Amino acid sequence: MSEAYVHGYHPRANERLQDQAAALVDLLHSDTSYPPGSMVLEAGCGVGAQTVTLAQRSPDAQFTSIDVSADSLAEAQRAADAAGLTNVQFRQADIFALPFAPESFDHVFVCFVLEHLSRPVDALAILSTLLRPGGTMTVIEGDHGSTYFHPDSRAAHMAIQCQVQLQRLAGGNALIGRQLYPLMVEAGLEAVHVSPRMVYVDSSKPGLVDGFTRKTFTAMIEGVRESAIEAGMTDPEAFDAGVRDLYRTAAADGVFCYTFFKGVGRRG
Ligand SMILES: C[S@@+](CC[C@H](N)C(=O)[O-])C[C@H]1O[C@@H](n2cnc3c(N)ncnc32)[C@H](O)[C@@H]1O
Repeated sequence: MSEAYVHGYHPRANERLQDQAAALVDLLHSDTSYPPGSMVLEAGCGVGAQTVTLAQRSPDAQFTSIDVSADSLAEAQRAADAAGLTNVQFRQADIFALPFAPESFDHVFVCFVLEHLSRPVDALAILSTLLRPGGTMTVIEGDHGSTYFHPDSRAAHMAIQCQVQLQRLAGGNALIGRQLYPLMVEAGLEAVHVSPRMVYVDSSKPGLVDGFTRKTFTAMIEGVRESAIEAGMTDPEAFDAGVRDLYRTAAADGVFCYTFFKGVGRRG
């Protein structure tokens, strides 16, 4: 693997990504479908959380989903088999050393991957060489700076900041969502359009309270506890108070907001 991966590959991280995909499917995927016969590369498919949705929404497109992690790919294959998918091929590969000829694909899809790379523009430029002229690149990223909630809590913001700093130390950028437009333009993509996708969660939306506020966002922050303490960014009491306050936003009178960014560009 060419980049450190801050969330790790343990089962809870996998479960979290599956929960996240289920809760966010409409918000992130409602406007993505690929025509029959098109060849689509999904780069950094992980455990297949997006793959299943993508392939189900475009049953007559052919997907090649790659990742550097053999364990994640095995999990993704299991998810695809369980969903009865026949239009996805999984392959172990590094975005920076891909085994495909130029212009092999009609579309490329990348979700929650650039945030872990120290050279996101290079990754996009490499991936765009695989597109046929006129083919599209779709990129989805989060931005932890877009997080706000009620009740507000300094401790919770500090716990989130630990995650942002750890990701930066690992060469990534947890605030990358806001940069999608300039990154995609710099990578040479044309007609780039970025749309913010805000997740707004209050207790009238119990699926999102559980699937997003608790099991996706707060679980992700909770997952960096030991690393943040080891790195001297926080102490256990302060971090735990922050996580407790994040869970508090999932209570009946709590509200949680987060914005994803989805960019679509075209190879000229
Ligand atoms: C946060 S996960 C996202 C997985 C999936 N796209 C999703 O949305 O659920 C990031 C994935 O990118 C993969 N990854 C990181 N660097 C990579 C690289 N250089 N080449 C291929 N995959 C990479 C990791 O192994 C991990 O599975």
